Amino acid sequence: RTGLATGAGLSVATTANAIAGTPIDRSFPKDFRWGCATASYQIEGAVNEDGRGASIWDTFSHTPGKVANGDTGDVACDSYHRYREDIALLKNLGVGVYRMSIAWSRIFPDGRGQPNQKGLDYYNRVIDALLAAGIQPYVTLFHWDLPQALPGGWQNRDTAHAFADYAGYMAGKLSDRVRHFITVNELRCFTDLSYQVGIHAPGLKLPPAGINQVRHHGVLAHGLGAQAVRAHAKGDTQVGIADNTSFFVPVIETSEHIAAAKKATREDNAMFLTAIMEGRYIDSYLAAAGKDAPKVQAGDMATIGTPLDFVALNIYTPTYVKADPSVPRGWTPLPHLPQSPRMASPWLYVGPEVAFWGVRLTSELWNPKSLYISENGCSADDVLDAQGRDDDADRIMYLRNYLGQFQRATAEGYPLHGYFLWSLMDNFEWADGYTKRFGIHYVDFKTQQRTPKLSAQWYKELIRRNALV
Ligand code: NOJ
Repeated sequence: RTGLATGAGLSVATTANAIAGTPIDRSFPKDFRWGCATASYQIEGAVNEDGRGASIWDTFSHTPGKVANGDTGDVACDSYHRYREDIALLKNLGVGVYRMSIAWSRIFPDGRGQPNQKGLDYYNRVIDALLAAGIQPYVTLFHWDLPQALPGGWQNRDTAHAFADYAGYMAGKLSDRVRHFITVNELRCFTDLSYQVGIHAPGLKLPPAGINQVRHHGVLAHGLGAQAVRAHAKGDTQVGIADNTSFFVPVIETSEHIAAAKKATREDNAMFLTAIMEGRYIDSYLAAAGKDAPKVQAGDMATIGTPLDFVALNIYTPTYVKADPSVPRGWTPLPHLPQSPRMASPWLYVGPEVAFWGVRLTSELWNPKSLYISENGCSADDVLDAQGRDDDADRIMYLRNYLGQFQRATAEGYPLHGYFLWSLMDNFEWADGYTKRFGIHYVDFKTQQRTPKLSAQWYKELIRRNALV
């Protein structure tokens, strides 16, 4: 049926069918968990308090030339002292979950040996305050602040065992209140960026055999840590990983390009999530590594492949990919172009479909029991205006687009159960120091004042409706 609508002296023919004007369902599943994420070194400060030992990020950030402006995490957001205020921000947003990390060197100042009760007391206070606010903590055991005292860091296989001892200890102490443990955060960053590219602590540039061994120790630490959490946890505890798997978006949604994206995802992550989910290094990886392949001991691969209760993904940048019969592996990534849209961090290209494809391809490849988004968010050039406001429409644009694609994943039935926005507030952005802001709360690092950005109001409304807004 065609109707006539008139306005401003014009007659416009409109198609009045059953669909026009009917909003599509943009809601999330009923018990979907909404949260925010942070990490210890990025927010806590208080690096010399209550017996905390040094981490490799203390050393690195104090080395001239390593971090923008010579910034360090010495004070960061001062959350060590202001955690109650931060939890009030979370409560005001209406989140039900919060992803935080433990600074290993607060608990074991030397990485192993005698635990430091004062460090544990701090996390007990935070966790108790979260629970009192009705917020469930998801605890990451390692978010890059490796104790400096561990000789050789991740180059040393012993570090994986030290991690497992620490992970088991934490599970024993916290599992009466914490249900979800995440072993490690972003394998690719604390291995490749740290030991191959050299832009993260400890800033090394190892040759191929060296970096492959570091990667092996990373996945081994994850597997040993997952087993240790299970062995020491009381009650119903779930364990998983937070990984920044590289995800590929089929450039056109046809079966050949989708198959290419799936193959690319499996092959490009061969030394990380693929090894964890399949309990082996796939042949194409071993063949390409040749004599530089990691040295693997008996039982390692089974440990690495320890079944997980959930897989959590940090999803930011897309790689578009096409099926390409002209190359042996059958796929070719499409390069980012100078004019490709991106946010304030140079690496942060915008490609919202990566949210959907990350979830779908992880599900199709490995069928995990449960999926979370452990991080998603963006940097923006935030400034407070004359009224002290930050109307960050660019961040809202970014988040709305990505969340639209996560909503698509839930609507299509993939087992995505929660989302942690990175980040609750602006914080120490590693080698970028305080020059890149990812928060939905603006932090004035001189006064430590937190101010909700417009994106915080937007996120609060989305949580309230449990639907895209
Ligand atoms: C990944 C990391 O886990 C987190 O520490 C970092 O700040 C964000 N992504 C943004 O780069």
